[in-house]
Amino acid sequence: MLYAVLMSLLFEISLSRGVTTDLSTRGLTEIPTNISVTTQVIRLADNNFTSIPDFAFEALSDLLFIEIYNCRITNVGNFAFSGTKLSSLYIGNNFLTSLPNLTAVASTAKGLYMRNNLVARISQRDLFGIRMISELDLAANPLLALPDFLAGLPLLTTLTLEDISFDCCWKAASLQTSSLVLQVDDEPCKDPEEFRLVPWTVLMPNELEETACSGFSQTMNKIIK
Ligand SMILES: *[C@@H]1O[C@H](CO)[C@@H](O)[C@H](O)[C@H]1NC(C)=O
Ligand SMILES: *[C@@H]1O[C@H](CO)[C@@H](O)[C@H](O)[C@H]1NC(C)=O
Ligand SMILES: *[C@@H]1O[C@H](CO)[C@@H](O)[C@H](O)[C@H]1NC(C)=O
Repeated sequence: MLYAVLMSLLFEISLSRGVTTDLSTRGLTEIPTNISVTTQVIRLADNNFTSIPDFAFEALSDLLFIEIYNCRITNVGNFAFSGTKLSSLYIGNNFLTSLPNLTAVASTAKGLYMRNNLVARISQRDLFGIRMISELDLAANPLLALPDFLAGLPLLTTLTLEDISFDCCWKAASLQTSSLVLQVDDEPCKDPEEFRLVPWTVLMPNELEETACSGFSQTMNKIIK
């Protein structure tokens, strides 16, 4: 685990030394089309894009790393990153209501960092669009229910769910027992009421397995039978 953290840190350091184009805080409303084609790292944070259209970065075939947080983005095209080698997408502090679809860069995408957006629902189909990633940061999104992250994201190693209160029922049990590097609040349970003040670290996996999700009567044990 330490090794994985160290490797991803080294990777980030080597990336940040790649050929960088910095267009942060320029008041841009559209992704520029005249960016140097050797760019590996692009910094576009603090602009006014509202959307990332299909093929926005198509000319940048060496592009690995996009930083585009705090840009008022509501929409990302299915083919927004086509033509790049996108590995890490930093798209926090925007107005996205669903996960961006990274299918078009499936062979290279590793990390999606999207804290502080407006994602309330994640379907298994949405997860399929990011199925190849190993790091996912969803902190401070208004998620109503957790999807089955482990089934949908087989390569996931790090999951950040800070500032999210969730239903501590059998669907969350697999997060307790997995080997993920998991970041959650100290007391993350919204439901059931009796778990609200219980620290995540003392909740036992079998307590979760025996708890029905809110609005449903089934528990995991009943389904297995
Ligand atoms: C960015 O959008 C905000 C809110 O719509 C607006 O107040 C601001 O003037 C815009 N800035 C630019 C450079 O377009
Ligand atoms: C790209 O175009 C913008 C606007 O026309 C200009 O200000 C900028 O200098 C150009 N950048 C490069 C790298 O040519
Ligand atoms: C994601 O994009 C692919 C094309 O790259 C498309 O086939 C798929 O339907 C999209 N998924 C969603 C959930 O829109």
